[in-house]
Amino acid sequence: MTSRVIAIDGPAGSGKSTTAKAVARRLGLAHLDSGALYRAATLAALDAGAEMSGTAIVALAKSLPVRLDLTDDGFRPEVAGVDVSTEIRTDRVTERVSEVSALPELRVWANEELRSAAASHPRGVVMDGRDIGTVVFPDAAVKVFLVANGEERARRRLLQMGLSTDSGSVRKKTEDMAERDRKDSSRAVAPLTQADGAVLVDTTNLDFEEQVDRVVEMGRKAFS
Ligand code: CDP
Repeated sequence: MTSRVIAIDGPAGSGKSTTAKAVARRLGLAHLDSGALYRAATLAALDAGAEMSGTAIVALAKSLPVRLDLTDDGFRPEVAGVDVSTEIRTDRVTERVSEVSALPELRVWANEELRSAAASHPRGVVMDGRDIGTVVFPDAAVKVFLVANGEERARRRLLQMGLSTDSGSVRKKTEDMAERDRKDSSRAVAPLTQADGAVLVDTTNLDFEEQVDRVVEMGRKAFS
């Protein structure tokens, strides 16, 4: 049986979240950004000064709790009942999130949270991340692997953050993102890789509307 899930995976800054959000709105589904859950767990661990071990962070995440709260159009990351949507995007979280996400115990906890959050939405979800099509929902109705050239991804991320896109900033951001991709792709559990049956979409030369249209089309076919 296929799940009412559109899985969008890909490297940092490939446009997964913005695409997933727009696709969800067009199809009347909820958007779920799985990276937000890993980021929220990382933020909680940093704030608590927790030992960076899977057991310690899972215990902390369960007790606070760290969770995704269902809102009108998607899911909001919360730590102890507080919305952390903004704080999870700060550099101190981004710098440590790949290390935390590589902990196997943490991934078991996150997968349970992601599956139960998806099940709590009656119409279905568009979920983006690194291992949605490979591990979390291998039976997703649609699987997309979104890629783009490294410099283009860095430029988009700087624009999204309202920062300068001069050549020095783009170079530095490209290096930081390549390092995170390297960690995410080389970890032992659930590495970033194109899932079986995933459609590769290279967005380097696509405009945003085009890339959203492609995924919406796949969703309409799969759900009709
Ligand atoms: O949006 P961006 O590409 O910066 O990353 P994100 O989706 O917010 O994910 C942040 C980090 O969480 C990634 O670099 C991965 O280390 C981890 N992650 C993961 O391991 N598995 C997922 N399904 C989603 C995110």
